[in-house]
Amino acid sequence: MVKVYVMDNYEGLSNKAASIIASQITLKENSVLGFSTGSTPEGMYSRLVQMYRQGLLDFNKVVTFNLDEYVGLSPDHPQSYHYFMHQHLFNHVNVPPENINIPLGTAENLEEHCRAYDKKIAAVGGIDLQVLGIGVNGHIGFNEPDRCLSAWTCVVDLSEATIKANSRFFNSEDEVPRQAITMGMASILHARRLMLLASGKSKARAIRETLSGKVSTQVPASFLQLHPNAIIVMDKEAASLL
Ligand code: GLP
Repeated sequence: MVKVYVMDNYEGLSNKAASIIASQITLKENSVLGFSTGSTPEGMYSRLVQMYRQGLLDFNKVVTFNLDEYVGLSPDHPQSYHYFMHQHLFNHVNVPPENINIPLGTAENLEEHCRAYDKKIAAVGGIDLQVLGIGVNGHIGFNEPDRCLSAWTCVVDLSEATIKANSRFFNSEDEVPRQAITMGMASILHARRLMLLASGKSKARAIRETLSGKVSTQVPASFLQLHPNAIIVMDKEAASLL
């Protein structure tokens, strides 16, 4: 069963999520962490940076894998997830650069790159704790609602709902890439622990459907119900339809 934490507000959510990551690193200094992007985890990353600066955390042996990346955006593009992760976390803590893994949206051979990504996750022994966000349509990573879902890391077409939601980061909807690389459902569900974060009213419906009891490819986040060690940390607004 998915364990749910409902926090009073975004700050509470960010603190709770950061403390769960901190305890994971404290218990296992060479933890393999799966990270996600989007507005929701920003507070969590800034809390982790703060804890690092206070000498409470050491990322020196940590290995990271990011969930997804836009196809066609180079790592120095301000809307790429490479850029996001460096701006919010990696430029401020001591994860060794060679331990940082993020899918490369400009890889020459995308299929080969995706296969190599899953192999690399397996080679380090799998992910200990995978952080997830949730799309307004229930997507996780960029696994969009569909009649079937991909198991492993792959290139996917973004749905209209996601293009619309993510257009707030771009000058116009036309600039939003139409494709992305995403860790697949099996890549995600193989992690030993999952922590999904959800904040705000716009996520309330997706959260209700995630926990409603029906596991459906139309709500990719509902697959969390099949995981033995999944938690959702949300604020009151995201929990408002439960
Ligand atoms: C994007 C990312 C997801 C993320 C989602 C939610 O589409 N691919 O991994 O979870 O956005 O983002 P936000 O937290 O900004 O709502």
